Amino acid sequence: MASPSDLNTSNSFMHQFLQESSYPEELKQSIISLPREEGWLYPHMYNYKGFWLDSEFLHGALRCQKHFQAQHSDIIVCTLPKCGTTWLKALVFALTTRKQFPVSQQTHPLLTTSPQDLIPNLEFSYARQNSPPDFLAVNNGLMRLMSTHLPLSLLPKSVGESKCKLIYLCRNQKDTVVSFWHFVNKMRAELRGLGEMPFPEAFEKYCRGASPYGPFWDHLLGYWKESLENPRKVLFLKYEEIKEEPEVHLRRMAAFLECPFSEEEEECGVVGGILRLCSFESLSNLEVNKTGKGSYFGNSNNLFFRNGKVGDWRNHLTDEMATRLDQIVEQKFKGTGFKF
Ligand code: A3P
Repeated sequence: MASPSDLNTSNSFMHQFLQESSYPEELKQSIISLPREEGWLYPHMYNYKGFWLDSEFLHGALRCQKHFQAQHSDIIVCTLPKCGTTWLKALVFALTTRKQFPVSQQTHPLLTTSPQDLIPNLEFSYARQNSPPDFLAVNNGLMRLMSTHLPLSLLPKSVGESKCKLIYLCRNQKDTVVSFWHFVNKMRAELRGLGEMPFPEAFEKYCRGASPYGPFWDHLLGYWKESLENPRKVLFLKYEEIKEEPEVHLRRMAAFLECPFSEEEEECGVVGGILRLCSFESLSNLEVNKTGKGSYFGNSNNLFFRNGKVGDWRNHLTDEMATRLDQIVEQKFKGTGFKF
């Protein structure tokens, strides 16, 4: 448990939170007494209502819950980190703006801007500014496309009350933990000058559910259940399935977002055009994604592209580790109808 003085020195975002006059004292007290442990990238993460959030994003989540007003036409891309957020952002952007920006256009925004910047993250956006971010401005006033890593239960109330749509993407937990570990180590070095987090340590935390926005099973199940109960609200996707049948799932996304491909578009190969533009090979070879920096963390955009393969866990996990994660998945998802 953290004491206020501890927080003042070690954690400027928690300090900011405690200073924020619009939060009731009761809420501040409850945050101070949250369980906490060392974060993967940040000094601390807090267990807030069952989920582990880095201090900065806990602050962003609370502000977002307080101030964000969802609109019926909003589209929110929801993922756990390293489940293919960048890919899904690119696909959703290209899909929903294809009338304004035909994918064959030499000036398509995805050619010069990172998908991470084209679809800003809600809790990140709120974490660093007091006034509500202007999500419309990001996309030239076309529509509000946003993303989040927050679990369903921590989304602002207005998201549930409005007709806005959520697209959730999950990924096999074994590939995710490997991807996460690589990413965090690069971020630790680039942003904080820290050494590597040993893989066994990361794996142990992940299995306990103590990874950013984790436990992964509760995160996934929240959206999974909602997608079954409310299929017009939540579209549930799997990274491996998109890899396997990209056209099928892009058409599913288009139908869900009420912008299905017309016959003419089908004939002109727009589906294939979007998939090519958003492919790992295409995006990772663009100058902006090779040498550019992200607007939020200031990290190299290339950290979001490693190899984009299914099954890379085989190069990192021992048989024992793989079995352990499989068992966790089997136990946690038993009876839910969910399978990787
Ligand atoms: P690997 O580390 O396994 O290569 P996120 O975008 O949520 O941070 O996830 C990053 C993971 O998605 C990385 O996985 C990255 O290589 C992969 N990725 C990025 N762009 C992709 C794309 N266009 N298609 C498929 N995978 C992609």
